[in-house]
This record gives sequence, C-alpha cells and structure tokens, in this order.
Amino acid sequence: MLPELVTAIPGPKSLALAEKLRKYESHNVTYVADDWPVFWERAEGTNVWDADGNRFIDLTSAFGVAGLGHTHAPLRDAMCDQAQRLIHAMGDVHPTELKIEVCQLLSELSFERWGLGVAKSVLSNSGSEAVETALKTAYIATQKAGVVCFRNGYHGLGYGALLGGGFDKFRKPFEAQLAEIRYELDFPRGEEDLAQLKEDLAQLDPKKIGALLVEPIQGRGGKVVPAEGFLTVLRDWCDENEVVLIFDEIYSGFNRTGKLFACEWQGIYPDLLCVGKAMSGGYPISACVGKASVMDRWPVSPGEALHTSTYLGNPVGCAMAVEAMKIHRDPSLAADVDKQGEELMIMLREIESPYIYEVRGRGMMIGVELRHADGSPAGDVSGRILSQMLAEGIIMLADGPEGNILAFTPPFHLKLGEMIFVVNTLKRLLAE
Ligand SMILES: Cc1ncc(COP(=O)(O)O)c(C=O)c1O
Repeated sequence: MLPELVTAIPGPKSLALAEKLRKYESHNVTYVADDWPVFWERAEGTNVWDADGNRFIDLTSAFGVAGLGHTHAPLRDAMCDQAQRLIHAMGDVHPTELKIEVCQLLSELSFERWGLGVAKSVLSNSGSEAVETALKTAYIATQKAGVVCFRNGYHGLGYGALLGGGFDKFRKPFEAQLAEIRYELDFPRGEEDLAQLKEDLAQLDPKKIGALLVEPIQGRGGKVVPAEGFLTVLRDWCDENEVVLIFDEIYSGFNRTGKLFACEWQGIYPDLLCVGKAMSGGYPISACVGKASVMDRWPVSPGEALHTSTYLGNPVGCAMAVEAMKIHRDPSLAADVDKQGEELMIMLREIESPYIYEVRGRGMMIGVELRHADGSPAGDVSGRILSQMLAEGIIMLADGPEGNILAFTPPFHLKLGEMIFVVNTLKRLLAE
C-alpha cells in the first residue's frame, strides 16, 4: 500500500536543501520560492518521492523522458548490467558493439519502417546537440546556410539549436551572437493558416535556405497539433527547392503521441530525424538519424571526425537506449498511449471552467490552454494552479510563450484512479 500523497511541502529537509542550492548553484538555473521546488529522491512508475518522503504523481515524465515510467525495471537493469562491465568507451575512435546496435535500431524503427531504406546516425548527448548535428548536416549537404523555422518552436538552447528556436525569450538575449540566417513562419493550426503558410514559403528565396526545422507536433510551444496537410506542404516545398527537411521528434518521438513518431499522424517523413529524451528513458543520449543519401554527404573520417563529442555512444546510455527502443517497437504500446490519451482528454474536456479555452493534443501529449474572459493568456492562473497542484501532490508544468497551457505528459501508464484524482483536483482548483 502506498503512503498518502504529500503531507507538507516544503518539509524540513527540502528547506535545508533549498538554502544550500541557493548558495552553490547559479541562481538562473533552479527557480526557488517558498513552495517550490521539491527535491526528488526516488521515483517509480508514475510516482516520485521527495527528500522528505512526500509522494507525488508526475504529470511531466520529467520533461518527457520517462514515458515508460520512472526507474523502469528493464532500463534500470540494462544500466546496472552495463555499468558492471564498461561505463565509458571511445565513441568515435574505439567504440562498442552497443553503439552499432543503437544505430541499427534507430534505422529500423524510423526510415526502414517507413520504407525509405537504411538510415545512418550521429549520436550525441542532448536534444540540442542532435538538432545542431542536423543543421550542420543540412549545410554540408546543400551548402546553403538559411534555416526556416516556426514561431514557438523549441529545439533546445545551444547556440546552433537557438538558430531555429521560436521563443523570443530564449533567443533575444543572445541574438547578437547568432547568425542572421533564420526565417520564422507561423505554425499553422487550421486550413486558413495553411494557405498563409504556402504564401509565406513562396516569398522565401530557396537559394539561401538549406534546412527547414520543425516539430511535427509542437511540444513546449503548447502541445499544438498542426493543420492536416501541413507536413505535406513542407515535404513538397523542400523537395522542390533542395532543402533538407528536419523533423525534431525529441519530445514527440517514441510513442509519446500515440504513434512511434508524431510525423506518422500525417504519413510524411523527413530527411533527418532528431530524437532524444525517451530514447533511453533516463540517460543523456540523443541522435540525428538521416537518409543515407543525405548523411553520406559528410566526409569520410580521415582519423578525426568533423563532428563528435567525448561521450558520443556512451555504453551505459547505449545499453539503456537498446532496451528502451526494443520496448518502443511493440506497436501495441502506441495503441495503448493513444487510448490513454483519448481517455484523459475526454475527462479534461468535461471540466467546466471559464478559464479553459481549449484541450488539445495527441496521445499522452496534452495541453489545456487557459485564457481570461477577454481572451488574454491566463499565465497567472496556470502559475497558481501549478503551485496548488504541487501542494496536492501533483507535479506538472505549463507551456507556451505565456506559460498559460497546462501540460499533461505523464508516464504512459497513468492509472485510472490517478487520472480521476488529477482531473478532480484541477477542476476544484480552477473553480477557486
Ligand atoms: C522538441 C525539442 N527539441 C529539442 C529539445 C532540447 O533538448 P535538450 O533539452 O535535451 O537539449 C527539447 C527539449 O525540451 C524539445 O522539446
């Protein structure tokens, strides 16, 4: 029998940790307030325990990583097993067999499954690095520097990834150090937006553009499902203009949306695919996976790779990724996530609140957009809700540039009782 959800936060140990954190970590990193953060000590499935022993339901999968559940036994065992034998190798010099297995699985799960032949990969550690590999690949393949990207797109915060970032708040402070080679378009939600997008694309000079970077469903931008036909428009424009089409599925990949990859909802495939987060379910590993015809534009390594990093193909990360991908390739998982998401969305749509403007998403990637009566984004209300939910034992985050979209991206197997508890709590707090 599990203990009750939270008793009191912050508890005494958490208060002491907050004090220490303030002393030693840059104050830009962790937001610290009277009732925030909780200090995670252990987690299992959909539950997290903090340093004071409080139990929480996690609606974030810790940034979309733990779709299979926290400390999922097969992944934990793969990690522990591998750590007994080899923790680190020389990824781009003297690698492990595991690295090959990861690259093969990535190919089989994506481009080979889509009937597009064997794909080749470059592994890396974070999502942002996978995006940067893709942008470099596009430049190498086309010799054209321009990047088309989308408003409210999120691709990570490294300088290269920021080039394609559509959040002003993250990009503007560093704009002076970013090349002026980006073309930002609106992410189309409906048919009218799609018509506008076609016009906007027609205005661009494709001779300057080598890459188009897009999330097939926007994650941090607010769980935005694009208009039907969107990816076809992009695919056609890229084909006509020799532009490399990059799908960033770092958030949406590996069954999060109820398909193995979110692009499968529209049946359109990229030249390059970026994955990370759930690829290992909890170890920093990511990849840029691409059609061989594009990836083979990189020069053959003469003994020194043009693009690599110390931890590329780390064996512990690879062991976990192999295990995770073998689980993800079972098609019944996608069907389960789709069904779970439908159920959760139905329950969320039944909440009657003047603040709820829209409930949207796919699979277990759901957003509840809050607005005030005058239509303005209700970021203040969602901020209050996040704190109150935490005090009730529910960990959640908000998305969108105004922070007014409550995000539901829990581990896939959230139990029905947990869903009911979450929805009822939200309903009560919205009414306050
Ligand atoms: C779609 C997408 N791309 C890239 C990233 C960046 O990944 P990372 O934080 O591992 O660099 C994220 C992170 O949230 C993301 O959602």
